[in-house]
Amino acid sequence: MPLTITSGPKDPLADAADALVVCVFAQGLANHPTVAAAAAALGGGLLEHAKRAEFEGKPEQSLEIATLGRMRARRLVLVGAGPEKDFSPARLRAAMAHAVRAGSAQNAERLVLVTPSDSSALREVGEGVALGAYRFTKYFTGDRKPKQELSRIAVCLPSSAIDAAGKKALSLGVEVAAAVGITRDAVNEPPNVIFPESLAQLGRDIAKASGLKVKVLDKAGILKAGMNLHYAVGQGSSNEPRFIHLTYTPTTKKKTKRLVFVGKGITFDSGGLCIKPAPGMGDMKSDMGGAAAVLGLMSAVAALKVPVEVHGIIAAAENMPDGSAYRPADIFTSLEGKTVEIINTDAEGRLVLADALTYAARLKPDLIVDAATLTGAALVALGKSCSAFYTADPALAKKFTDAAAHAGEGFWQMPLLEELAEQLKSDVADLKHTGDRYGGSITAALFLREFVAKVPWIHCDVAGPVLSERARGNTPKGATGHPVLTFVRFVESFAD
Ligand code: BES
Ligand code: MN
Ligand code: ZN
Repeated sequence: MPLTITSGPKDPLADAADALVVCVFAQGLANHPTVAAAAAALGGGLLEHAKRAEFEGKPEQSLEIATLGRMRARRLVLVGAGPEKDFSPARLRAAMAHAVRAGSAQNAERLVLVTPSDSSALREVGEGVALGAYRFTKYFTGDRKPKQELSRIAVCLPSSAIDAAGKKALSLGVEVAAAVGITRDAVNEPPNVIFPESLAQLGRDIAKASGLKVKVLDKAGILKAGMNLHYAVGQGSSNEPRFIHLTYTPTTKKKTKRLVFVGKGITFDSGGLCIKPAPGMGDMKSDMGGAAAVLGLMSAVAALKVPVEVHGIIAAAENMPDGSAYRPADIFTSLEGKTVEIINTDAEGRLVLADALTYAARLKPDLIVDAATLTGAALVALGKSCSAFYTADPALAKKFTDAAAHAGEGFWQMPLLEELAEQLKSDVADLKHTGDRYGGSITAALFLREFVAKVPWIHCDVAGPVLSERARGNTPKGATGHPVLTFVRFVESFAD
């Protein structure tokens, strides 16, 4: 049964549910109206019990109490929101997601969820609840198949009913989370299911569902368009490359900003002839994480009806080492016109992106943003939970940093160090596409810069955070949906 998320009754205790989950601030237990009502219904002793169990309302903390018929809900679950001081939209979103995870134990079907305070922002609540409910279970059969799934979550404020504006915000949040779910699903799917054509089909499906324009170029179309770098990367696989262009045009009559998002869509990165070692190669199914984020973003901006023109561009290919694979020492002419000497076939992402960025620049946008699982070096620099971003424009950097903070996603600006650019000079062509090992994320960014013409540009190296080894806050184990929330917020910041 699909999950519905709605606003609940004014009195959270009125609803029969598998669990009543109450999200409380640290040291806020005694002040939360729903906790007080629950304590009374249970006949007292709740606060003492919580104290003995050392429940302090810290983030990721939870305490479960069987209600044994004294309340309509079968279980009462207290979850921590952390300190009320400096509480932020990002923390609210994470706390609500954790609340869903904590409440959905024991095959729960129906939850009532209570926010930490009446002033909790319902957009972020909706996002957090729906993000926390995300599961990827389609390939489980028999015993591994979930016996029961969440079918209904009712959201309540502690002591007031949710008004019409609150309901609207809640449902928009749920829609944004659904868009993030598209991204997560696409990344979680195995590479025999998601390959360039099926990724393009996903793009067509999203376009149809969201009323977007869509254009797809097949292998011959990519060659004909002059995207020789993209073509080269795809030529070693029997799963042929695709170039995907989605367009969202707002209905407003006013002149709006035009933003282009470009995603690396390597549906599997074996490394090509410069093949990767076996351990960890399977993670390279996530090498289309940037592309998946662009798809999620396009779905979200359509749902939110943002007054900004947004283009989503995906360079999709499978990097494989067959007899027609591209090789080190090959030279290709990019769409932009510069010639590129291939050094290492495992540095394929920047090649497909180079042509896609040129295509993007020719749309004459106000801004290009790309997302790519581009380098292991970004992981070495910033770890698994933080992405690197690059831009030459300090005002854009600030705007982007603010969006990431609101989204609760890790981003850190890295420098476009000019002194590393000389590593990209080739003896036989205009450019070679890799430098040495040191500063590898930076040289990749410098390579991409050659293809954006003069358009303001932000490059996001998201190699680490697209996958997570454990569930935390609003991110599950596996595909996280990073950086969709940041991109959505960033686009919304261009609305006025
Ligand atoms: N897709 C990889 C980067 C990557 C590595 C993403 C680990 C996520 C986790 C990319 O195509 C790649 O192979 N990059 C090489 C570049 C090198 C050959 C210059 C790398 O980072 O090792
Ligand atoms: Mn690679
Ligand atoms: Zn790659």
